[in-house]
Amino acid sequence: LRNSYQTVWDKFKSQTTAERDLFLQESFPSGFQWATSSVSFKTEGGWSEGGKGETIWDRFGHEGLAFANQTADLACDSYLEEDVAILKQLKVTHYRFSISWSRVLPDGTTNYINEAGLNYYHRLVDALIAANIQPHVTLYHWDLPQALQDIGGWENDTIVTKFRDYADFIFDRLGHKVKFWITINEPYNVAMIGHGISFRPGTLPYVIGHNLLKAHAEAWHIYNDKYRAKQNGIISITINSDWSEPRNPYKQEDYDAAIRAIQFYIGWFAHPVYNGDYNDIMKTVIRERSLAAGLSESRLPEFTPEEVKRIKGTYDYFGFNYYTTVLTFPVDYKNLQGAGSTVDLTWLDSGSGWLKVTPFGFRRILNFIKEEYGNPPIIITENGISERGTVDLNDTHRSHYYEKYINQALKAYLLDGVDIRGYTAWSLMDNFEWAKGFSERFGFFYVNHSDPNISRVAKKSVSDYSKIITCNGFPH
Ligand code: NOJ
Repeated sequence: LRNSYQTVWDKFKSQTTAERDLFLQESFPSGFQWATSSVSFKTEGGWSEGGKGETIWDRFGHEGLAFANQTADLACDSYLEEDVAILKQLKVTHYRFSISWSRVLPDGTTNYINEAGLNYYHRLVDALIAANIQPHVTLYHWDLPQALQDIGGWENDTIVTKFRDYADFIFDRLGHKVKFWITINEPYNVAMIGHGISFRPGTLPYVIGHNLLKAHAEAWHIYNDKYRAKQNGIISITINSDWSEPRNPYKQEDYDAAIRAIQFYIGWFAHPVYNGDYNDIMKTVIRERSLAAGLSESRLPEFTPEEVKRIKGTYDYFGFNYYTTVLTFPVDYKNLQGAGSTVDLTWLDSGSGWLKVTPFGFRRILNFIKEEYGNPPIIITENGISERGTVDLNDTHRSHYYEKYINQALKAYLLDGVDIRGYTAWSLMDNFEWAKGFSERFGFFYVNHSDPNISRVAKKSVSDYSKIITCNGFPH
C-alpha cells in the first residue's frame, strides 16, 4: 500500500520556516467559489416557532449544559434581508448554511411536513439567488430532531432510511433552486465529541460513524438516481481533520502515531467514501485493542460487500473543514485514536483551546488528500478563527489567519496541483458555539445580544476578506 503520509512528509520535512511561510502573490483561477457559512441551530433562533420540533441541541441548552447556562433559543435571530445584506457586503459568491431537520419535519419523519418551516428556507434561498449568491446547503449539521434521539438517534440504524427520506424530501422541494449540497457535516465530531470522548468511550463512536456513513451514502444515491439529471447539482459529505506531525520528528514512534492519528481522523470517513471500506490501520488497531480488552470481536463494525459497493464513490467533491495542526506521540490503548497530541508553544493562540494558528498544516493536509484520495476536486467548507473576552472590532488576528491560511491553500493549488475549487470562511457572524455558547466568537460580524434587535456589526476582517475575494487571491 502506497503511504501518502510518507510522500507528504518527504516533500515538506526539510522546508525551512522561511520557505514554509513564503507568501505567494498570485490568484486563484476564475470561477473560484468564495463563501462564508453558518448553521441552523447556532444562528436561527426561533427554537419552537412556526411549528419547529425540538432538537437535541435545544434540549442540551435547556438542560443548562452550555456555557453559563446560555441557550440558543434566540441565537442570532437570523432574518433574511439583514443577513443577505451582510453577505453582499462580504462579496461572497456562495453562502453555506444548514437546514434544521426538525423545522421542516418536526418529528424527523415525512409523516408530518411543516410547510411554514420549509417556506423559511425557500425565502432564504430566493433572497440569496436574487442577490447572486449561490446557496450551499448542509442537510445535517448536528441538530438532530429530539424525537429521533428518543429512539436511539444515530445509534439506531433505522436512522439511515429516515435521513434518506428527509434528504429525498428536501431535494424534491428545494433542488430546483439549490445546486450545492452537503449531506452530513463533520461525522468525526458527531461520533467522537457527540458520542465518544465526552460520553461513553468504547464501541459507540464506531457504531455512530457506521450509521453516519450509510446515511450519507443513501442520501447521495437518492440524489444521484432521482434528481441529478434534472437538477444538475453536486453533493458530498464534509469531512474535518487536523493535520498531524510527529512530536519528535526523529522518533519513529511519534511518526507512526502521526500516521495513526491521520487514519483515525480524516481516514475514518474519507477512506470508506473513496474506497468503500475502513482503512487497514483502523481495522488492525481496533481489532487488536478489542481483543486485548477481552472482547470476542472488533469494536469496529464491518460493512457487507453490498454496503462497500454502495458507499464507494459517493462524492462529487471533497468537502473539507480544516482549522489546526497537532503534534502526536503514542499513548496506551485506552485512547480511541491511538495517538496523544500536543502543540508547539510558539504557535499563536485563538479563543478556542483546540485551535492554534497553523497555516502550514493546511497545505500539507491538502497535499495528503490529493495523494491519498486520487486528487479529487476539493471545496474547503470551513476554516476560521475565534476570539473570546472583550469585544474588539479590530480583529487583526482574523485577517492575519485568513491571509495566511488562504495563501497556503493557494500554494497547494498552484505549486502542488491540488484541485481546490472553493473556499468557505467560518463564520458569517458570531453565533452559539455549541457547548461554548456565545463565549467563543468566530464571526466576521459581531452580534450584539444586548441590543433588542440582536444587531450585526462589521469587524475589520470584513473588508480584508472581501478584498481577497475581489482580487481572487493575492495578485502582485
Ligand atoms: C466545526 C463545526 O462544523 C462548526 O459548527 C463549528 O462552529 C466550527 N467547527 C468551529 O468550532
